[in-house]
Amino acid sequence: MKTVLITGASQGSGRATAQLFSRKGYNIVLAARQPDPLKAVTAEIQGCGGSALAIPTDVSDFQQVQSLIDQALAVYGRIDVLINNAGICLTGPVESTTLEDWQQIMNTNLWGYIHTIHAVLPHFLEQKSGVIINVGSFGGKMPLPEMTAYCTSKYAVTGLTETLKLELAGKGIHVGIVHPGVINSNFLERAQFRGQNQSEIQQRRQQM
Ligand SMILES: NC(=O)c1ccc[n+]([C@@H]2O[C@H](COP(=O)([O-])OP(=O)(O)OC[C@H]3O[C@@H](n4cnc5c(N)ncnc54)[C@H](OP(=O)(O)O)[C@@H]3O)[C@@H](O)[C@H]2O)c1
Repeated sequence: MKTVLITGASQGSGRATAQLFSRKGYNIVLAARQPDPLKAVTAEIQGCGGSALAIPTDVSDFQQVQSLIDQALAVYGRIDVLINNAGICLTGPVESTTLEDWQQIMNTNLWGYIHTIHAVLPHFLEQKSGVIINVGSFGGKMPLPEMTAYCTSKYAVTGLTETLKLELAGKGIHVGIVHPGVINSNFLERAQFRGQNQSEIQQRRQQM
């Protein structure tokens, strides 16, 4: 039986992807930070007869990601597909974007993907097979106004994916990227908004 590991699987497109793979007969390893929503999705999958394992993980922390991969391998013995999906959004003028904002976006949207790839790659190389799918964004193909930090992270994911795809093609490892448009999830409600004052922030939130 094949195993897929999905980050950001507790809601939105990650949750939907986990349910789809379960219907196709995969074991599912689900990762996200908050344990309760993660457990709820795991229970949904198990309730439909699927096999799922919830591992609360902050993808910006490499030690946690290494432990995620180790636990998944200990339980299921192999990983066939990695889906890097965990992401956050930040909107606002660049002069209102703090260095901490930049670090948070890059640590989640870029380093989170690098961490999982780095941790799973020895396993994929050893088994001479594996699939890595990175969830990018239309903001990783075209610039979006007042989303400089977000687009920077997603353009980086585009570069990471396209280059890695070339490098691993001859080693049995398929690398691909999905560039979604706007998805009907809570992503924008959960986004962080920046601006010079509360009314500007509120206006931006309503626009989004
Ligand atoms: N929604 C859109 O319109 C849209 C458009 C283009 C691309 N995308 C991309 O699609 C992907 C999924 O978005 P979505 O709409 O499904 O968003 P969502 O509903 O907000 O879900 C995001 C998921 O990522 C997890 N997450 C966030 N930070 C994390 C971290 N540091 N470590 C581990 N998990 C983390 C969240 O759980 P916790 O908060 O519990 O960690 C949640 O499970 C993202 O990469 C996003 O950039 C979305």
